[in-house]
Amino acid sequence: MQRLYRKRIVLGVGGGIAAYKSAELVRRLRDQGAEVRVVMTSGGREFITPLTLQALSGHPVHLDLLDPAAEAAMGHIELARWADLVLIAPATADLMARLAQGVANDLLTTVVLATNAPIALAPAMNQAMWADPATQANRQLLEQRGIRLFGPGSGSQACGDIGMGRMLEADELAHAAADCFDTGLLTGLHLLITAGPTQENIDPVRYITNHSSGKMGFALAEAAVEAGARVTLVSGPVFLPTPDRVQRIDVVSARDMLAACEAAMPCDLLIAAAAVADYRPEVVAPHKLKKDPTSGEGLLLQMVRNPDILATLAGREDRPFSVGFAAETENLLEYATRKLRDKNLDLIVANDVANPGIGFNSEENAVTVIDRQQRETRFSQASKGHIARQLIAFIADRYRQA
Ligand code: C5P
Repeated sequence: MQRLYRKRIVLGVGGGIAAYKSAELVRRLRDQGAEVRVVMTSGGREFITPLTLQALSGHPVHLDLLDPAAEAAMGHIELARWADLVLIAPATADLMARLAQGVANDLLTTVVLATNAPIALAPAMNQAMWADPATQANRQLLEQRGIRLFGPGSGSQACGDIGMGRMLEADELAHAAADCFDTGLLTGLHLLITAGPTQENIDPVRYITNHSSGKMGFALAEAAVEAGARVTLVSGPVFLPTPDRVQRIDVVSARDMLAACEAAMPCDLLIAAAAVADYRPEVVAPHKLKKDPTSGEGLLLQMVRNPDILATLAGREDRPFSVGFAAETENLLEYATRKLRDKNLDLIVANDVANPGIGFNSEENAVTVIDRQQRETRFSQASKGHIARQLIAFIADRYRQA
């Protein structure tokens, strides 16, 4: 099993002799399925060439903050948003000090400040530098802010000393990176997720659908599995691979989706991320509808309402903790709050689909979650994978409080 399948990792390489292990680390992260983009400090470049890391990661290495060509290709903010995890290996004493102070005087420290993704450091330095009270104070400060430390290990050092300060081996770091995604927050729970669009047939060759790609629902399924849940994913027609360990049920129409969800009940939590067609043609023509060659008249299609899957499941006696999505192009929070009430939900995730960089069909999202007390929690723009993990952690927390 690839524990880092499709995870996006920004690997920061600082200026220490352990940078030679970073080349191996890129290999190990990719073996686990991760996509890796490397950012090197000027010190890092003294120890290992960007070309080596470019060849191993399969992408140009990011070097400078003030390089217009590199910024045009993938700017520092884009890189910060792209990341699911920022891993710095080796993290030198100097880098730790700059990060502790919030200094942003090169590309790597700027990405760290700009990212919402989890950050992990693999310290590597001489044992006396590690033991120094300044480094220990920085370590403490960084850990208090939620930055994880992988290692350091202890043993013989490149400088001849023996003690704490060795960077962990590439294998150990790749495992520690994968552990960051396995939260265990939903262990033992059954989660039902709807995703994608539905298709409502007009005749044997035509249908009505919408622009939903299914990416958000699939990212939620993946994050829920990582959090330990048993996940049933009921999906409309999409072009996405099934996340590992997820039970996927493919459906076409809204009515199929409802039937599949009802068959998958009971569940502890329901997340309805599907963009379900509200209406379907009243009659599905048995044969392909033909144009009338004698008139230029339009075609009138009589539509009827589809069942509301989310409201139906949230209205059952054995109702799960229910989370809906509100994709709106105007009056986002007002409409979302109304849906929360009307559909008897615990939480609603409001999603502004008028903004072209987020929502339907895009790689990134930014959402606001509203609860029954109308408290709002905002998750700022990031990859759908990262937003999904944040949402799953939030939903798990609220589920436990309910
Ligand atoms: O009413 P609206 O379609 O905007 O509500 C959106 C929420 O309701 C989403 O969570 C969506 O998955 C769910 N929904 C549903 N069945 C429908 C319509 C919407 O489950 N027929």
